[in-house]
Amino acid sequence: MAAFFDPTLIEKWGVGFINEGVIDESLRKLIPGAAISRGGFKYPSKSELRDLAWNHMDQNHRPYIHRTYGDAMRIFVQQQAAFSLTRFGRWPVVIPVFDGYFREQGFYQFVVVFGIFVIAIIMENKVVENGTEIDIAWAIASHRWLRFLHPLLNRQLTNVNNIQNREDDPIRDRRVAMRAEGYRFLTDEPNFVNSNRMENNTVYPPLQAAASISTADLPENRTVRIDIDRRAFVLRRSNRGIEVWPGVCPHEGAEISADHLQGNTVKCPWHGLEFGPRLLSETSQALVMCGARLELAGDRITLQTPAS
Ligand code: FES
Ligand SMILES: [Fe+2]
Repeated sequence: MAAFFDPTLIEKWGVGFINEGVIDESLRKLIPGAAISRGGFKYPSKSELRDLAWNHMDQNHRPYIHRTYGDAMRIFVQQQAAFSLTRFGRWPVVIPVFDGYFREQGFYQFVVVFGIFVIAIIMENKVVENGTEIDIAWAIASHRWLRFLHPLLNRQLTNVNNIQNREDDPIRDRRVAMRAEGYRFLTDEPNFVNSNRMENNTVYPPLQAAASISTADLPENRTVRIDIDRRAFVLRRSNRGIEVWPGVCPHEGAEISADHLQGNTVKCPWHGLEFGPRLLSETSQALVMCGARLELAGDRITLQTPAS
C-alpha cells in the first residue's frame, strides 16, 4: 500500500509537493498502460523574475486579459498553492487545475482534461543573457489508445501559451517601467494569496514638491487623464465641481484612462475593479487619492503629500 505521506515529496516552505523525478512513474501507476508525450515552450521576456512569478500567481487577471480563458471557481488558495475548477473555453465542461509554487521560480500546474488526459506542466522563470525567459515543459499522459490525440493537445498547449504570454507582456513590462519611476508593489514578493487579494498593492512614489493645475485647463464635461507632478488622475469638470478618479490603479498599477469610464464609474482593465468619482467642490475641498492629497482652492487644484 502506498504510504499516506510519500517520503519522496519535496518539502518546501512547510508544504509537500510531488518530486519532479517521480512524476512519470506516478502517472504510469495511476493510468495503467499509460502513454506519456512531452512538449515544451520557451518564451523570452523583458520583465523581472518577480513580475513573471506575480503574473503567473495572479489568477484574477485571466478573464480580463486573456481571450482564451473561460471562468474559474476557486476552491483553495494558500501562499504556495491554489486549486480551482476552470471552464473549458465556452463549453459546459469543467477542468480541475492545481497550481503550486514548488521551488524558487518553479511552478507546477496539473490539469485533467475530460478525466482521460493528465497534463503535468513545469514552468520555470530564468534570467538569460538579454532579460528573462519562461521555460515551460509538459507531459501529457493518457491510456495508450488515446495517444493519437497527444499531438493535437501538444499544439493546443503551445498555441495557448504563446497567445497568453503575448497578452501578459504589457502587464509585466509595465511593472518594470513603473518601478523605474519610483513605484513599488506589496506583491513584489508574490505568493498565491497576496497576488489574488484585491487590495491596494500599489505604493506610489513620494511627491517631489507641491504642484498644482488650474481648473480652467480642464475641458468642461469632458473626461481627461492628467499628470500632476507625474501623478495621474482622471478628471472631469462639470457644474457640480471636479470629479476625480485614479489614473494609476491602487490595486496593481494598471493605467486607467478616460476610455475606461463607463457612466460615472471607471473600470480597471486588469482585474475589473470599479471606482466611482470623488468630488472636489466648494463644499468638499480636499480628498486623498493615489497617495496624494488634492485640494481645491479658488480655481487651482493643489497636490501635496498627505499627512500620515
Ligand atoms: S490593477 Fe487590478 S484592478 Fe486595477
Ligand atoms: Fe496571464
